[in-house]
Amino acid sequence: MKKACLCGLLLVAFGGPVVAEPSSKVAWTLETLALVKNGDREKGRQIAETCAACHASGPQPAGTTFPDLQGQLATYLYKQLRDYKDGTRASEIMAPITASLSDKDMADVAAWYSAQPAQAGAKAETVSETAERLVERGDGRRILPSCNACHESDGRGQTIDVPALAGQNPAYTEQTLLDYKSGARHNDIYGRMRTIARELGDEDIRQLARYYAGLKR
Ligand code: HEC
Ligand code: HEC
Repeated sequence: MKKACLCGLLLVAFGGPVVAEPSSKVAWTLETLALVKNGDREKGRQIAETCAACHASGPQPAGTTFPDLQGQLATYLYKQLRDYKDGTRASEIMAPITASLSDKDMADVAAWYSAQPAQAGAKAETVSETAERLVERGDGRRILPSCNACHESDGRGQTIDVPALAGQNPAYTEQTLLDYKSGARHNDIYGRMRTIARELGDEDIRQLARYYAGLKR
């Protein structure tokens, strides 16, 4: 509860960019939460067969930016699928894939992926002090809160919509942080990640991506 409150405070402190369009059309109503909570994993497993070419378990093929979905929060996965479908998160690959999925399909496949054991990432050979500082303490001069304040100390994320970062394909993490920074990705409610990514240098982003890849989800 304490941590959730901190997150709320950070939100207020940040405000968010003033935008005409909402960053996401997903509202966490009791109905939506129940839909995801009751996601049918067996149906989800069948849907996931059509995703496996790009979202197989284990380390992602070098050079690809396919995100690892295993062990990710179901509510986060569901939100991203809805955002791809209605275009609030742009992706030439994921838009056509989500077009044929119903809300229930998305809840089912999110529930399945979320219940799968995540693979341990490859630990970076040296600990990046830059990454460690940003993750644990943030940077007061840039008004940057620590990543831990929202993503938790081991990068496992927290309810409802803060994703796990641990064990993620570093090429994906780097790409998506650059996308928040440029505004190409703008589906983060209240602009929480855009505000943060704008303060990060490209080298900070590279080090953070490697740091999180080495944590166990
Ligand atoms: C042809 C490859 C491909 C297939 C097939 C595919 N995906 Fe993706 N998926 C991607 C790529 C690439 C991204 C990253 C896109 C971006 O940068 O927004 C992605 C992103 C995602 C994300 C966002 C993850 C995050 O951490 O934010 C989810 C959720 C997702 N896919 C689910 C699925 C599901 C469910 C299916 C099957 C119904 C599927 N994908 C099929 C390539 C694919
Ligand atoms: C104020 C809370 C907050 C803080 C602090 C925060 N994040 Fe986030 N982060 C979020 C939320 C919420 C999302 C999901 C937004 C969305 O729906 O797109 C997110 C998403 C992300 C994603 C996308 C993950 C994926 O699978 O696509 C990355 C990467 C990320 N954050 C990295 C960081 C890093 C690195 C830091 C520290 C420098 C940080 N975050 C600090 C709240 C936060």
